[in-house]
Amino acid sequence: MFFASDNWAGAHPAINERLLKESTRFAAAYGTSELDLAIEQRFNEIFEREVSVFFVATGTAANSLALASLAKPGGVTFAHSEAHVIEDECGAPDFFSGMRMSPVDGPHGKMDPRHLVSRIARYPQDAVHHGRATAVTMTQATETGTIYTLDEIEEIARISHEHGLPLHMDGARFANALVNLGATPAEMTWKRGVDVLSFGGTKNGCWCAEAIVFFDPAMAKELPFIRKRSAQLFSKSRFIAAQFEAYLQDDLWLDLARHANAMADRLRAGLNGSNTARLAWETRSNEVFAVLPKATAKAAGEKGAKFYDWLEPKDMAEPVSEQDVLIRLVTSFATTPDDVDAFLRLVAAG
Ligand SMILES: Cc1ncc(COP(=O)(O)O)c(C=O)c1O
Repeated sequence: MFFASDNWAGAHPAINERLLKESTRFAAAYGTSELDLAIEQRFNEIFEREVSVFFVATGTAANSLALASLAKPGGVTFAHSEAHVIEDECGAPDFFSGMRMSPVDGPHGKMDPRHLVSRIARYPQDAVHHGRATAVTMTQATETGTIYTLDEIEEIARISHEHGLPLHMDGARFANALVNLGATPAEMTWKRGVDVLSFGGTKNGCWCAEAIVFFDPAMAKELPFIRKRSAQLFSKSRFIAAQFEAYLQDDLWLDLARHANAMADRLRAGLNGSNTARLAWETRSNEVFAVLPKATAKAAGEKGAKFYDWLEPKDMAEPVSEQDVLIRLVTSFATTPDDVDAFLRLVAAG
């Protein structure tokens, strides 16, 4: 019953097998091997255009270096107030980009376009004292388990571009959002105005595989130097490429995300029908937020269920009472229906 996070799961057997196979070969280092180049080509196919791809180790590195590539002195980056880049990366995006974050409110973990416009207006391009608006970053799927629709992505992109700001997408859970929308990777990104993407593999079955994807290779000019100077250029980069090869083969990545989302649907359905717990808000990806009595949560934890208590967001329709607790449950490619049912039985037992 591991619902703490999708990165608590191991790696999918197909990824492990591919890594094992790679481990017996010699190949050129620092991203120049045939395998590295072939996977870069694979990204072109997946995104239906020529893209520039850079492998890094963590989602935090992908976000930080992507934003560093968009940086200007005195720059300000706009992100949802509960975004991972603001709340959970220890200031790494600010550190690597030299810019600072400006929080944008909005319900359900999504930036409200009107708030984005008013936030941007605070930082005109000639505002030496305040700093200048420089980039926008959005998370898909969001940190609260919701998903921007394609039209919502386009609206955020329109506002960003109207102000001359490039749009970055944190896609740590890109695949979970993609299969939920039934969109293609191109439709969920550049066709709707996304300029740079952090493409996550680690949470969806890889061991350690993240990529920064630029939809306009001209924007990627500085990234080789930014990545090296940030100590993120792997000499054995081909082991990240190998993971991506298995991940992207025969739509494995989409199947794994569909499974994780289906396990979350099973949790949602069970919690919806529960007398002891309730869904905190509607989610659509592989994250579920529930309110349950503190005693029930404690008992479930003692019986081996792993999950995190969560801070109540500003916009929660029905606040959490003194006796209750808000928890986050995350499913993954490795979650089984039995895990979900066992957890639901613990909740029902009260
Ligand atoms: C939305 C989001 N972005 C980025 C990350 C960062 O990933 P990492 O922990 O690999 O740095 C996470 C990890 O939890 C995440 O949830």
